[in-house]
Amino acid sequence: MSDFSKRINEILNHGALNLAMAIGYKNQIFDILEDLNKPVTVLEIASASGLHDRYLKEWLGIMVTGKIIELSHAPDGEDTYFLPPEHASFLTRKAGSNNMGVYTQEIPLLTSCAMESVNRGFKTGDGVPFSKYPDFQRFMAELSDAKHKKVLINNFLPSVDKRQLLARLTDGIRVCDLGCGHGVAVNLMARAFPKSKFTGIDNHEEAIRNARNAAQEMGLSNAVYNVLDAAKIHGKKEFFRLFDYICAFDAIHDQSHPLEALKGIRYMLAPGGMFSMIDIKASSNQADNIDHPMGPFLYAVSLMHCMPVGLNDNGTGLGMMWGQEKAEALLREAGFEHIELTEMEHDPFNLHYLCRAPL
Ligand SMILES: C[S@@+](CC[C@H](N)C(=O)[O-])C[C@H]1O[C@@H](n2cnc3c(N)ncnc32)[C@H](O)[C@@H]1O
Repeated sequence: MSDFSKRINEILNHGALNLAMAIGYKNQIFDILEDLNKPVTVLEIASASGLHDRYLKEWLGIMVTGKIIELSHAPDGEDTYFLPPEHASFLTRKAGSNNMGVYTQEIPLLTSCAMESVNRGFKTGDGVPFSKYPDFQRFMAELSDAKHKKVLINNFLPSVDKRQLLARLTDGIRVCDLGCGHGVAVNLMARAFPKSKFTGIDNHEEAIRNARNAAQEMGLSNAVYNVLDAAKIHGKKEFFRLFDYICAFDAIHDQSHPLEALKGIRYMLAPGGMFSMIDIKASSNQADNIDHPMGPFLYAVSLMHCMPVGLNDNGTGLGMMWGQEKAEALLREAGFEHIELTEMEHDPFNLHYLCRAPL
């Protein structure tokens, strides 16, 4: 077999494994096997999970041949299955920030939401409306919930401006989170820094509704939300120089009009204020991404979601892999002259672009 045909075999096997692992993750089979913590029969898995044994048996065939689960035999010769603790530590909900199992859902979910629309887009060049991705939006909200709860207050904010932002937040400043989604970051910050005032902006009405409800449940009086298109902020007098600090987590690359959004951010920033743009760490040149450890995965997520939603409304369709060179150029074009780039230990796939407005 030639090297390339072996590679195609691998690709077919790994694609199939990803799909089956997503099903296993969703049905919590890895979590159940971790709890059982010994070799068990298919009927024992069925009884512990409430899932149908015939489906489980077929699924286990994929996991065993894919070397995710180990097959052995009981004294009576019956097949038994064991999830090694080392594998469980990357696949189950208990794995916390090591949980890679959750990501196995991403490509299958995007496929079910947008396969037809993306195929059509190849012929028409049209974008795909946000409304096509209801399940994916829910999944993203889950991911960002886990991500922000883990690192925002204890890792990210202390890293901004050598802990000086933390001191200012404690004393009380005005903060905006642009593209705030379900408000996880805003609500966490508002709870941690009661003397500061927080505003979340997003154009997704349902996300803002959820953000407001969550703020209310948390009893926060210093968090407010606006349904607003970021591209239409520039020139709105009520927002002029309103904020001392603005952040945008993973929210610029799928904007239809990112330059206008960045100009809006620059417009909202008070003299001496800071803007943190957290966005994917990659190069704008495909050649420089050849050894990116997640290259095909991230380009695929972009093809199936970020790029087509960015093409809506005659948008630029930057895509998730727009890269550092384009990002810096756009920030400068929007009026940010002082840009500092920092890698983040707690988030190796993103870069932090810290932009300062002059005094
Ligand atoms: C990938 S999500 C990130 C959400 C959140 N910042 C987080 O970290 O979980 C991108 C967000 O940008 C918002 N967005 C996209 N285009 C926008 C626009 N033109 N104006 C305001 N928000 C926008 C989306 O609705 C979505 O909530």
